[in-house]
Parts: sequence; C-alpha cells; structure tokens
Amino acid sequence: MTLIPDLAAVRARFASLPRLAYFSSGSYGLLSDSVRASFETYLTDRVENGAYWGGWVDRLEQVRSQVASLFGVDTDEIAITASASAGLNAIASAFDFAGPRNKVVASNFEFPTSGQIWHAQSPVGAQVVHIAEKEDGTIPLQPFLDAIDDRTAVVALSHVCYRHGGKIPDYDIRAIAAAAHRHGAIVILDCYQVAGSERIDPRALDVDVCVGGMLKYLLGTGGIGYLYVRRELVDRLTPRASGWFAQADPNAMDIFANVPSPSARRFEAGTPPVPNLYAAGAGLDLILGIGLDAIGAHVRTITRLAIDRFAAEGISLATPLDDARRGPLLAIRSKDEVALVERLAEQQVMTSSRDGKVRAGFHFYNDEADVERLVRALTDNRALLA
Ligand SMILES: Cc1ncc(COP(=O)(O)O)c(C=O)c1O
Repeated sequence: MTLIPDLAAVRARFASLPRLAYFSSGSYGLLSDSVRASFETYLTDRVENGAYWGGWVDRLEQVRSQVASLFGVDTDEIAITASASAGLNAIASAFDFAGPRNKVVASNFEFPTSGQIWHAQSPVGAQVVHIAEKEDGTIPLQPFLDAIDDRTAVVALSHVCYRHGGKIPDYDIRAIAAAAHRHGAIVILDCYQVAGSERIDPRALDVDVCVGGMLKYLLGTGGIGYLYVRRELVDRLTPRASGWFAQADPNAMDIFANVPSPSARRFEAGTPPVPNLYAAGAGLDLILGIGLDAIGAHVRTITRLAIDRFAAEGISLATPLDDARRGPLLAIRSKDEVALVERLAEQQVMTSSRDGKVRAGFHFYNDEADVERLVRALTDNRALLA
C-alpha cells in the first residue's frame, strides 16, 4: 500500500522502531540513524578542530538551501532562526503599529506563540482580531474576508491546528491572501504542524511569510527554526530585532551602524544554533531524499486508513475528515486525555494530549501495523474514549 520505496528499510533507520508505535511526530519527530550520526559528527569536529567556524557557516548555508528546496523558493528568501517564535518576533519588529495600519487578524488555529507575539505588540499600538473556529474543527473563510481591511497589517494563519489537526484548506488560504494583498496586508503561514509531512508551496498559496521549526515532521532537533520571506517583501521589512548575523556583512564588526542583509538573513540575530544545524541538515536530507510527494501520499493514505479503522471501532475524532481540511494529525476525543495517553504509553503506543483530545501525528515511518496497535490500545481503554 505504501508509496515509500522499501518502507521496512526506512523504518530500520529509526532505533525506536518497531518497539514504539510512534504517533508523537507533531510533538517531536523520531531520531533517525543519520541525525544521531550528525550530532556525533559535531562532537568529532569539536574534538578535531576546537572551533570550526568555516565549517559551521557552511552548514548554516547548507541548511538554508535545504529549507529553500523544501519550500521550492530561493535561498535568499530563507532565514535560519533559533525557533519559530524568534522568526515571528523578527517579523513583528518590522511593523509600525503606531500608525493607522495597526490591525492583526489571527486565526484561532494559532499556537499560543503566534497569538502571544501579536498581543505583545499592543503596547506599541497593535490591535489583534481573532477569527473563531467552529465546533467541527473548521474555520470559515467569510469572517477573514470581513475582518481584513485597509487597517490590516498582518494576517496570521496556522496551516494545521496543533490542538485538533484541522487544516485551513489551500483554496481558503489563497482567497485570504488575495483579500490581504488587495488591502496592502501580508499573510504569515505557520507551517510547523505540517512541513515535512507533505509539500507546501508558498508561491502557489500566495503567502508572504512561512514560519516553523525543525523538531517535528522535519526530524531535526529543538533550538532551530526557519522563516521564508517573499523576495519582494524582504526589502520592505526592516526588523528592529537584529544582530551581527543579520547584517549585510557579519564580519563588518561595525558598532556605529545597522546595515541589514539584503536577503532574508536580515531576520536572523546572533550566533547560529551550531549543534542543531548538524541535526537539522540530516533530518532535511532524509525528508528531501524520500521526497515530499511520496511522504505526502503515504501520510494521506495511512491517516485515511486510521480514520476508517476508528470509524469501524466507534472511536470518535475531533479532526475534520475532508482531506483538504486535515494534515498529518488526528485528534481522538477522550474523557481523560492525560490518563489515556499514559495508558497507551504503557503499551508503547506514543501519543500526546491537548485540549480534551489524544493527538496522533502520522509520518512516513508509520505503517499499517502501527495503526492496528493504536486501534487496539484505544479499544483496550474504551472507558476513557469520549
Ligand atoms: C504550530 C506551531 N507553531 C509554533 C510553535 C512554537 O514553536 P517554537 O517553540 O519554535 O517557537 C509550535 C510548537 O509546538 C507549533 O506547533
């Protein structure tokens, strides 16, 4: 059934498999042999060279070009950051919310960070308007269109909601982007809960900024993130959050001026997250090597299989079932999600809990046997299902 060539060989690269049936990729992706080896290479480089700045800057540029391949964009449109939050803060710092264009329209799919950072701009004039979601985990288009006006500076969207896995469909993102651009606003897409599990094309979606990090479906590690900024926007946004790695010439060592890089590097700050570059590069290699289309097709097929098996067993999902409105995450309704996650973990079935739900995130390394283990562990604990 799988579209991943030799899934068994791919699974053999993850030491936690097959012991774990792993569905926590939306929390932290599994460690592959290559990411582990890459961390070891970092230590070897330290032992052999002490400091290895030339090699580390090369790794930074390599990760930048891998992220550019991931999104099908140019390398000078990519910043490598310390976290998704760091990227969002850099973007937010480029806006003047004291003027008439002070409105931020944010979906209620947002991860806390992407609500909090916009509210953090309120002392300098930002007004944040939230777009509510419906009971069924969908978020309607019309309230966005009604909220976006000539006062709107930013529209913040989370592609897949971290709580229940509901996705803003591509056709709605394009419609929101068209409205935002008509009114002179930019669209920021938080891709953290989806990038690495399927292809995302910011140009086709017509979004201006994509933000995320490397520890989930990109299989890297914590402490490193990415930011895509559309080429035409880079020159128009001058971040007030800055640092020497954001300068046109990081070696200028000039304390008398701020000369931001002409590329999206201007949204970076200080010393890059050196050890994390090693891990992120290996994780991205794995994703790009298998291919986003094969991964996307596998994730769609395996989540569909899980949805059908859950329906057959009477297991209720909070995630919308329409393929266009869901990503790699399925959220199972529970009476006590914390207890249920613990019970599943006793059977080596790894999930996470949020907001009354057990979250199961699927990746290319999940197979049909994993789905059966999940279904069995859930039906063994039927009293905790809602
Ligand atoms: C959708 C989404 N956005 C943002 C974040 C926060 O990212 P960071 O901790 O890198 O700032 C997360 C973390 O889980 C997330 O799921």
